[in-house]
Amino acid sequence: MSGGTRRFVVGISGASGMPYARRLLAWFAGPGRARGVEAHVVASRAGRLVWAHEIGEDLAAFGLPVHAPGDLGAPFASGSARFDGMAVAPCSAAALARIAHGTSHDLLGRAADVMLKERRPLVLLLREAPYSLVHVRNMALAIEAGAVVLPASPGFYARPSTLAELVDGVVGRVLDQLGLDNDLAPRWSGMGEPR
Ligand SMILES: Cc1cc2nc3c(=O)[nH]c(=O)nc-3n(C[C@H](O)[C@H](O)[C@H](O)COP(=O)(O)O)c2cc1C
Repeated sequence: MSGGTRRFVVGISGASGMPYARRLLAWFAGPGRARGVEAHVVASRAGRLVWAHEIGEDLAAFGLPVHAPGDLGAPFASGSARFDGMAVAPCSAAALARIAHGTSHDLLGRAADVMLKERRPLVLLLREAPYSLVHVRNMALAIEAGAVVLPASPGFYARPSTLAELVDGVVGRVLDQLGLDNDLAPRWSGMGEPR
């Protein structure tokens, strides 16, 4: 969309599931960058807290531009910058609510709002359990507005044997939804022989 280089936003909100965010950032910093894909990162205040608790590593360690939640002057805060898509990974129930209702108060919410109005892919890797009716209604609103709600629920049909494989299975689906070719997880090719 923007002259050859494709540009994406990774929003990190304050839900549990930071290993998904870390894998996504590592993909953008590695295979993504090698293919000319650019990624910008914004974590909400709660996102930074939960990241510190679950990961601890510096968010800037991936060499991707990291924007402060209050940096409403970031390029992707405007539709005219023509970014190609955004993943909110993980997506808290609170971030989902703000996105569904268009009541953004920080750069993460504004960027998601921009994706919806510009009809760009917006993938919400939602993590909450159990769901209340409020969550379900907000999911419906977000989907009606064009977002993809992708629950952070790993599949087991590829028979993952490590946590990393479980995480890769979910993150591969996020990248798929953004239209980014990846080989993070094996693709289903039929049942094969039963074990
Ligand atoms: C350790 C920790 C784990 C949390 N996990 C979740 C979660 O899985 N899902 C969720 O919706 N909120 C979770 N929360 C609560 C959110 O962080 C809280 O609602 C926050 O206001 C979300 O802000 P944000 O949407 O701006 O990131 C968690 C909070 C903490 C401290």
